Amino acid sequence: MKTKIAVFVSGGGTNLQALIDAQAAGNIPDGEIALVLSSKADAYALKRAEAASIPTAVVAKKECRDGVEFEKKILSELSAHGIEMIVLAGFMSILSADFTARFPKRILNVHPSLIPSFCGAGYYGLRVHEAALSYGVKVTGATVHYVNEIPDGGQILLQRAVEIQEGDTPEILQRRVMEEAEWILLPKATAMVATRIKNEKTEK
Ligand code: GAR
Repeated sequence: MKTKIAVFVSGGGTNLQALIDAQAAGNIPDGEIALVLSSKADAYALKRAEAASIPTAVVAKKECRDGVEFEKKILSELSAHGIEMIVLAGFMSILSADFTARFPKRILNVHPSLIPSFCGAGYYGLRVHEAALSYGVKVTGATVHYVNEIPDGGQILLQRAVEIQEGDTPEILQRRVMEEAEWILLPKATAMVATRIKNEKTEK
């Protein structure tokens, strides 16, 4: 049985698209994207999932009383779909220690910098690239890591460097980091972890 994967999104979903394309190309042989869960009802990522006939769920944070209710709703979607592994692909909420402890080494995140630079609470999306440019670093990149209770603090799986160029804006840099690093690393790491989980199941 393939490892059942949920991809968590909040926005455009280009990383989700990279995962969908990798799956279609046979590059995630031991995993199956079984659910796309969005924290926002209007996320374009949901349209990408629908176009690929992948089940979707929306758990809107702003409609929940607190983080406990938010995560309770997420967990019920995960169990309804038999999810064994989670990929955070532009998911803009921090998951609690209680949540991450339920999926040790089974949650992945892609972050648009070379961790430990420009990461942790407050560093997400374009802000990460704004911070890299204003610091003046010459090289940035992307990191795929396991998710634990420390924001962007889990074990690193894959990293790739991307050069900053003269005249870069946060938007231009974001696009280059996606094209040269994120869209390559995330499907690769997802395939690795899906295979590991599948093998653990067959060993039991
Ligand atoms: C990506 O660059 C991803 O690395 C980043 O948000 C973007 C989402 O784009 N994630 C974070 O900053 C998490 N801290 P996408 O919706 O097009 O995949």
